[in-house]
Amino acid sequence: MRFLLPLSLLVLLAAAYQEGGSARRRRAVWAQGPGDNSPVSSETEAPFWVRISPTFKAVQPGSSVWLNCSSSCPLPEGPRLHTGLQRGKTLKGSNWVSFQLLDVRAWSSDVHCYVTCAGITQGATARINAYKPPHSVILEPPVLEDGKYTLRCHVTHVFPVGFLVVTLRHGGRVIYSENLKRFTGLDLANVTLTYEYLARPCDLWQPVTCHARLNLDGLVVRSSSAPMTIFAWSPASNPLASTSIAALVGILLIVGAAYLRKYLLMQSRP
Ligand SMILES: *[C@@H]1O[C@H](CO)[C@@H](O)[C@H](O)[C@H]1NC(C)=O
Ligand SMILES: *[C@@H]1O[C@H](CO)[C@@H](O)[C@H](O)[C@H]1NC(C)=O
Repeated sequence: MRFLLPLSLLVLLAAAYQEGGSARRRRAVWAQGPGDNSPVSSETEAPFWVRISPTFKAVQPGSSVWLNCSSSCPLPEGPRLHTGLQRGKTLKGSNWVSFQLLDVRAWSSDVHCYVTCAGITQGATARINAYKPPHSVILEPPVLEDGKYTLRCHVTHVFPVGFLVVTLRHGGRVIYSENLKRFTGLDLANVTLTYEYLARPCDLWQPVTCHARLNLDGLVVRSSSAPMTIFAWSPASNPLASTSIAALVGILLIVGAAYLRKYLLMQSRP
């Protein structure tokens, strides 16, 4: 580990929220805690059932979703939907209502449906998750300058960034890893990790790779870059010199509602 130098962390957050960003964030916060003032359901006697379908749905950020809430009550009051998500169209039958929810941006939203039947209220809950695996993971060819390699890895079009871990490996060895937990934006993002690295003679000709991992409550999505080879070790990589050189690590995050719209347009084209 003596070749891993003291790190200083540089965080640049560019254009984090464009118009509407704070409103979206307020909505997302509300989506996490709508259960507090929910009607109490009777669990001992269940004279009728309430179902929401599907109970779980994973979508790409910005998509819309249909949920169908039905019950066995012959004369239901409702169904009523409690959600922080934006509402779209509604379709109704005698004992069911189908709700459209628009522009799902929050990583995880719970949607509650309540039906009251002869004075008794029962509910059902569905969860909607929004995520987008990276479009690409690209490691630039390492550049040797002043005895150090600059490694730069780009992870594009990824969401939610807060669940992303970017790791650099040289051969089998992890040389740097960083999670982006502190980023909680509701837009797709491009992430660039920059790392200055002193290669050891024994690592010569080993490939360097960059790995992106989204860890989504149990669902793990991985992507990796093409390997790059380091041809020469860094002249400065001896134990005496290493302590006097500070490595610079930086994460550059670019998020944009504008290019999310462009992306969704591209997706909807035939
Ligand atoms: C909603 O669910 C009910 C009960 O399962 C079903 O009869 C109805 O066709 C569904 N509506 C839609 C729009 O899927
Ligand atoms: C993100 O990266 C992609 C691919 O390199 C590029 O086309 C896009 O413009 C980038 N978006 C932003 C907001 O920089």
